[in-house]
Amino acid sequence: MLKFFSPAKINLFLRVVNRRPDGFHNLSSVIQAIDLCDIITFQPHCEDFFSCSDTRLPIDEQNLIVEALTLFRSRTNTHVPMKIHLEKVIPIEAGLGGGSSNAATTLWAMNQLSNKVASTEQLSEWGAEIGSDVPFFFSQGTAFCTGRGEKVNSLPSLPPKLIYIVKPKTGLSTPRVFKKLELPIKEVPGKLQLQDFSENDNDLQSFFSGNLHLFNDLEKPAFELDSDLCHLKQYLLGLGFHTVLLTGSGTAFFCLGEGARPQKKDLLVFSTKFMNRKLGSWYSRSNYE
Ligand code: C5P
Repeated sequence: MLKFFSPAKINLFLRVVNRRPDGFHNLSSVIQAIDLCDIITFQPHCEDFFSCSDTRLPIDEQNLIVEALTLFRSRTNTHVPMKIHLEKVIPIEAGLGGGSSNAATTLWAMNQLSNKVASTEQLSEWGAEIGSDVPFFFSQGTAFCTGRGEKVNSLPSLPPKLIYIVKPKTGLSTPRVFKKLELPIKEVPGKLQLQDFSENDNDLQSFFSGNLHLFNDLEKPAFELDSDLCHLKQYLLGLGFHTVLLTGSGTAFFCLGEGARPQKKDLLVFSTKFMNRKLGSWYSRSNYE
């Protein structure tokens, strides 16, 4: 039986560049993996069997683990029947990338179980077909992501940081939050493709020089959809954190700095830290600092 950690992510900053004709939005975002992990076990079996500790999640093809498994098999022409169990820890509808991480972890694990028939680049390309955030997890845990999020430019690990993740009971659906931005559709000018991000992105340069005031362009539409989120942010800032920011489309916040542990009832609170992986191995709790 193989056991894999499937980490969450946070968006340290997130700029929505524009809305594309295909319905997606171009973004630029520094994304960081964190040590808040689901655990997925994979076991070759006489037939396929998938189970999940959280009964709210679908266990059919709608689950991104099953989608990733099907995609891996079709691309590699392999078929090892698998018993897969997902121990869900990462909150859903939180902007923490849990489903995307599960898909990436499944592609990685299946490749390990199939004599590494595919390269990491191929796994990442296949992952982009499942969701915009999936390729990020094939970086080493810190990356500047552009396009709809699937263009991943790996960055060096950041200094270790302890953070709180705080999630209210309510969730938000990602398409709803993007739609609420109500941006006009715009053709993408070539220079905003950001392939060569080092020359083009001012946010990234400010981020590395320590001058960027961290922001998330999805906070405004998320707060419009759920005004309690704005109150929660004020409450968290009042605890002493220097930065409290929604991750992705929410509804989870991450808190940086010296603040008191949030105590309000009905909040999910996780104390966690940045996580990176070593080249050639998946995210694990023993091989990172
Ligand atoms: O790629 P993913 O399946 O996670 O996207 C879910 C939905 O979120 C998309 O269908 C789209 O409505 C919205 N989205 C977007 N721009 C992005 C990523 C997601 O508009 N860059």
